[in-house]
Amino acid sequence: MSVDPKTYVFRPGLLNGRVILITGASDGIGRALALCAARLGAQIILHGRNLKKLEAVYDEIDAIDGSSRPSIVVMDLATADSDAYMSLAAGIENEFGRLDGLVHNAGILGKRTSIEQYDAADWQRVLHVNLTAPFALTQVLLPQLRQAEDPSVIFTSSGVGRTGRAFWGAYSVSKFGTEGLSQILADEHRHTPLRSNCVNPGATRTGMRLQAYPAEDRDLLKSAEEVLPPYIYLLGPDSRGMTGESLDSQ
Ligand SMILES: NC(=O)c1ccc[n+]([C@@H]2O[C@H](COP(=O)([O-])OP(=O)(O)OC[C@H]3O[C@@H](n4cnc5c(N)ncnc54)[C@H](OP(=O)(O)O)[C@@H]3O)[C@@H](O)[C@H]2O)c1
Repeated sequence: MSVDPKTYVFRPGLLNGRVILITGASDGIGRALALCAARLGAQIILHGRNLKKLEAVYDEIDAIDGSSRPSIVVMDLATADSDAYMSLAAGIENEFGRLDGLVHNAGILGKRTSIEQYDAADWQRVLHVNLTAPFALTQVLLPQLRQAEDPSVIFTSSGVGRTGRAFWGAYSVSKFGTEGLSQILADEHRHTPLRSNCVNPGATRTGMRLQAYPAEDRDLLKSAEEVLPPYIYLLGPDSRGMTGESLDSQ
């Protein structure tokens, strides 16, 4: 029977023992995913740029019955240098010796304006955080991913990463690039266990969505918890062998 990732139902212990790094785990979809994956037995590495917010998520995970204590990595993706990336990889190597899941979730929206008006420095910042940083992080963590039996890399895409839309500028371009990066990584590892896929969560009630659409009725939006099924599906054993795909949460 084929599985529909949008309505995938998790079973207890699905992610038992899997070591999963989630970027942007301090808020929104990343935070919800960290809590959900921890409940399903994963060992979570929480990444973000704000220690206080990460500690709050740490406490929430720590309060889950039977959960493993998460790790915290503070690294600003806008400014991190190669030493920061290498020390993150060395930390994972020393503590766990492998990485089973890598979820590129952190992202920024940037300005909503026309190409004509787009500020070049903002353009570079958005492309750096949303696209170059996931490239650099994936590259430095490939040795740890290769140590896992069933490694899964997830990139976060968007509807505007598949069809360009006026005034979405660098954000949209970064998500097109994300789709490409995921496909290239998948193709380069076609004959290995490592898989790489994209998830487009769709309109979700988070801070980023509020920034993009301040006037909309937020009650009509899915919550961060509701968009998680494709992420959990891709992080677990039921999606083994799936690679180079781009899934939708809604
Ligand atoms: N919400 C939607 O409707 C929607 C739709 C399509 C795609 N997406 C994508 O889904 C992903 C998650 O978005 P979200 O809606 O959950 O957004 P969010 O609530 O704004 O959360 C974004 C996360 O990324 C982190 N982050 C931002 N810049 C960072 C940096 N320079 N270094 C490290 N961490 C950084 C944030 O940290 P702080 O807590 O410190 O700010 C936060 O943890 C993004 O890739 C977004 O493009 C969202």
